[in-house]
Amino acid sequence: MFERFKEKLKNKKILVTGGAGFIGSNLCEVLLGLGAKVTCLDNFATGHRHNIEPFFSNADFTLIEGDIRDLATCHAACASQDFVLHEAALGSVPRSINDPIATNDVNVGGFLNMLVAARDAGVKRFVYAASSSTYGDSEALPKVEDVIGKPLSPYAITKYVNELYAENFYKTYGLNTIGLRYFNVFGKRQDPNGAYAAVIPLFVKKFMNHESPLINGDGTYTRDFTYIDNVVQMNLLCITTENESALNQVYNTAVGDRTTLVELTELIKKHLTAYDAAISQVEIVHGPNRRGDIPHSLASVDKAREMLGYEPTHSIDKGIEEAGGWYWYK
Ligand SMILES: NC(=O)c1ccc[n+]([C@@H]2O[C@H](COP(=O)([O-])OP(=O)(O)OC[C@H]3O[C@@H](n4cnc5c(N)ncnc54)[C@H](O)[C@@H]3O)[C@@H](O)[C@H]2O)c1
Repeated sequence: MFERFKEKLKNKKILVTGGAGFIGSNLCEVLLGLGAKVTCLDNFATGHRHNIEPFFSNADFTLIEGDIRDLATCHAACASQDFVLHEAALGSVPRSINDPIATNDVNVGGFLNMLVAARDAGVKRFVYAASSSTYGDSEALPKVEDVIGKPLSPYAITKYVNELYAENFYKTYGLNTIGLRYFNVFGKRQDPNGAYAAVIPLFVKKFMNHESPLINGDGTYTRDFTYIDNVVQMNLLCITTENESALNQVYNTAVGDRTTLVELTELIKKHLTAYDAAISQVEIVHGPNRRGDIPHSLASVDKAREMLGYEPTHSIDKGIEEAGGWYWYK
C-alpha cells in the first residue's frame, strides 16, 4: 500500500523515537519494508521489546535503548540521520493528571532535547506527534488547525508547547518541522494492558475475555477514531513531500468522520463475533464521565488533503475489522 513512497525512502536514514511503542513500531515496520535505514530510540517506558523483535534480524534496523531526557543520547541518535519521526512521549490524559511532572519532563524536556539534537545534526525534517488534545475546550466542529481552545489537561499543555517550540525552532534556527495532531489512533500492537490503556484495545481485550466493557458516560461522546495506516501515510507524506510550503505547519491526522462510544463498542463487538459467537452476548456497561474528556471530537482533514495529498484509506469500520483480526490471531 505504501509502495509509492519506496523510491524516495530507500536507503534514507530515519530515526523513530518511541519506536518500540504502538505508533512508532508500525512506522519502523513500514519504513524497513520500503528499504529505509531505521534507528529506534526508546527507553521501554510504555513500549515493548516484543513490538520490535521481528526487526532485530534486519541489518537496516538499529536499536538505541535510551532516554530522550538525556541530551547526549538524543545527540548520538540524531547524528547523520536524514529525518526524525518523533513519537516518544508519555501519552494518556489521566496519567498526566496523576503525574504532571513526569509527563512534562518527557513530553516537554525530552522534546526540547530532541529539537536541539535534530538542529545540531542538521536533519532535513523533524516530524513529531502532536495531539488533538490541543483543541482543548474549543467547541467548534469540525476542528480546523487554526482554531484551538485552552488545554484541558497537563498532557494537552505539553503537546501544545511542542507546537510552540517547533515553530520557534524553524523561525530561530531554520529547522524544518511538521506536527501531526493525531486523533484517537488505533491498530495492531496498541497495548491493551495497564491503567492507561486506550479504549479500543481495552474493549477488544474485554470482549475476548467475555467481560463487559465500561463506557465512561452515556456513550454519546464522539471521536474521530483513526486507523494506524492513515497515520503512517501522513508520516510518509511529511518526509517525502516536495511542497516546501507544506513544511513548518501542523496537520490534523484523522479520518474526518466521528463515531459515538456506543457505536464504536458495537462495531468492535460485531467484528469480534466473527471469531467467537459468544461475544454477541456480552453486555456493555456505563460509568461516570471522566475528568478532562471533551464531549466531541471531529477533524477537518482538508488542510492535509490540500497541502500533502493525504487521502485516508481506512474508515473506522475497516480499521476495526483489521485490528480485531490482529488481536484475535496474535
Ligand atoms: N495513540 C494515540 O491515539 C495518540 C493520540 C495523540 C497523540 N499521540 C502521540 O503519539 C505518540 C506515540 O503514541 P503511542 O500511542 O504509540 O504510545 P506508546 O506509549 O505506545 O509509545 C510511546 C513510546 O515512547 C517511549 N518513551 C516514553 N518515554 C520515553 C523516554 N523518556 N525516552 C525514550 N522513549 C520513551 C515508550 O517506551 C513508547 O515506546 C506519542 O507522542 C503520543 O503522545 C498518540
